[in-house]
Amino acid sequence: MTTRTPLIAGNWKLNKGGEDGCELAAAVARAAEKAPHVSVVVSPPFTALAAVAHTLSEEKSRVEVAAQNLYPKDSGAFTGEISAPMILTAGAKWVILGHSERRQYFAESNAFIREKIAAALAAGLRPIACIGETLAEREAGKTLDVVFEQLDSFADLFTKDPGFGVIAYEPVWAIGTGKVATPEQAEEVHAAIRSRLREKQGEKVAEQTLVLYGGSVKGSNAKELLGCPNIDGALVGGASLEPAGFAEIIAAAEALSAS
Ligand code: 13P
Repeated sequence: MTTRTPLIAGNWKLNKGGEDGCELAAAVARAAEKAPHVSVVVSPPFTALAAVAHTLSEEKSRVEVAAQNLYPKDSGAFTGEISAPMILTAGAKWVILGHSERRQYFAESNAFIREKIAAALAAGLRPIACIGETLAEREAGKTLDVVFEQLDSFADLFTKDPGFGVIAYEPVWAIGTGKVATPEQAEEVHAAIRSRLREKQGEKVAEQTLVLYGGSVKGSNAKELLGCPNIDGALVGGASLEPAGFAEIIAAAEALSAS
């Protein structure tokens, strides 16, 4: 287990965008109360961002809120877009950026994702920057080439305030497929990410940056994944929509970090 405070984040994707998001957030708040050694974040769609943040503050919860995207301009004529300062105003402190679904379906490049991460950091919004290889890339033996290219495209931005930004390693082949990486497969890449950070960005960034694992994490596999020395938490999709399942993952992190 990590010596860093573990973070369990629920990425709700295109779900729970209304009152149902507030109900789920309230349930997560109850689960987080039993896990004082774990940081917990929920990431609703934009439509529920402010309402979920409000619910959590009414509950006096430690659970924090993340947006799932931003546009890297503060304001202006960009119809349909949402800026980092707006996300902060809605009560969120985090933003998930560079998710593989955005890379795949919305053609987001490493350069554009870098701009977004820079905009988040400039505003004081904590980025969870996602990286990970596809199945074809893994099978071609290119996992670390791809992951390092994605990582190197933004990681220098993390040197100004080491630990403020977070990385999520999400192998694309394990997202929503039920195919979880084995703890050995995940730890191998996590350890490589940490070495790369040490080599390129220095000891402080390497030691203080949380590297989360994402891809079919659930209650039944959380303990063995989170038990790996370079896995500092989880970015959870499907299982975060179900209060009992997400609570199990939070409890697994608490059991490991309290022991
Ligand atoms: P699943 O947990 O549904 O595989 O999704 C992972 C993910 O994409 C989190 O960002």
